[in-house]
Amino acid sequence: MQRASKRKMSSPCGEIAHGLEDVLIKTTSISDIDGERGILWYRGYRIEDLARNSTYEEVAYLLLYGKLPTRGELDEFTSRLAKNRDLNPATVEVLKNLAYAHPMFAAEAAIATEGAFDDDNRKLSESLRTGKYGDEEKALAYRIAEKLVAKMATIVAYHYRLSRGLEPVRPREDLPHAANFLYLMFGKMPERLAVRGLDLYLILHADHEVPASTLAAQVVASTLSDLYSSIAAAVAALKGPLHGGANEAVVRTYLEIGDPSRAKSIVEAATKPGGPKLMGVGHRVYKAYDPRARILKDFARDYMTKYGDRDNLFAIAVAIEQEVLSLPYFRQRRLYPNVDFWSGIVLYYLGIPYEYYTPLFAVSRVVGWVAHILEYWDNNRIFRPRACYVGPHDLKYVPINERA
Ligand code: CMC
Repeated sequence: MQRASKRKMSSPCGEIAHGLEDVLIKTTSISDIDGERGILWYRGYRIEDLARNSTYEEVAYLLLYGKLPTRGELDEFTSRLAKNRDLNPATVEVLKNLAYAHPMFAAEAAIATEGAFDDDNRKLSESLRTGKYGDEEKALAYRIAEKLVAKMATIVAYHYRLSRGLEPVRPREDLPHAANFLYLMFGKMPERLAVRGLDLYLILHADHEVPASTLAAQVVASTLSDLYSSIAAAVAALKGPLHGGANEAVVRTYLEIGDPSRAKSIVEAATKPGGPKLMGVGHRVYKAYDPRARILKDFARDYMTKYGDRDNLFAIAVAIEQEVLSLPYFRQRRLYPNVDFWSGIVLYYLGIPYEYYTPLFAVSRVVGWVAHILEYWDNNRIFRPRACYVGPHDLKYVPINERA
């Protein structure tokens, strides 16, 4: 792991790692980031190799089980995922009731509902409560992990249809994960390049060491709460615009700009003291160009070349990128385009409405979240940091009717 610059805050108790920057919380063999050189590995494999050669299912298997699957293992895994796509009727009811809420609220509630009705989850929770986590319990945990990966996609696609007054369509067991998702959303067989675009998006977002959402998942899981509740917490953390919500904000900004000639003023506004942050730029760990952004940019260019630059988004993004790469403000702070700079454009091209961009991030990242929880459970210890208290002590208690 390559260390980036630290932001320390002094306090009466000593130095505080503000925002836990560079604080190590565990060892991991799931993913690694070299923020200085802009390199990402999943289980030792470069993201570029996986993006070029793999499918989401293969990457999900790799992240969960720690090795690339054989053809037989992949077929079995793919078939298990496909068989787990259906939702509990209670979850569908929840989604209907939340059809007009932001899909991230709906995803939180739907995941919690699935957990409440999953017998495997109940059994595992009982075992964990009594301190039992042997081979049998681990097998149960992996079974639940696979269900979570399969069902997150259905939850998001169902919410999309319900929010538009459309009946959900049943998942197809014969379709790969990305194709099935698009089929569930739009109710028709997706076009090949759209499936490739979504599959790429899912591969690139599947894990990223311990950002806020993965930390949130592990904090909850470390209390031996159940897997579904831990994932609901991760979804909640992902929702914020500083994390998973950035891709939605990026496309909204580009659409507002409308024309590449206006890129300069938007970028310059972000350099002014107190100005708005430029969404899709900067990263806590990467102090170089995000490798995932580069891959998505290439795909966006290919897609745009074939189908045209819908609403000028590619041209606007290129113009903004040029400004960002040239202005001293960004260079000095080592702020480069991150994955969200380009991911929103790819999803926009695929016809996915922008309130579903962050939910789609969850559809992909759920596998990273569960992989990290399962890894942490092998050596679990409850998270319990400390805070430096700076308020008063031993104040005299004044009864309520004597207070001025
Ligand atoms: N636009 C303008 N200035 C920025 C930006 C930006 N996007 N990002 C950071 N800065 C400035 C920041 O104001 C600060 O300046 P100064 O030193 O003068 O106070 C300096 O750069 C360091 O920033 P920071 O806020 O301390 O950095 P951080 O590590 O706390 O935040 C970040 C990282 C990603 C939250 C931040 O860069 C940001 O808000 N970016 C925009 C939101 C975004 O694109 N988020 C998606 C992240 S990638 C997907 C994911 O992993 O979730």
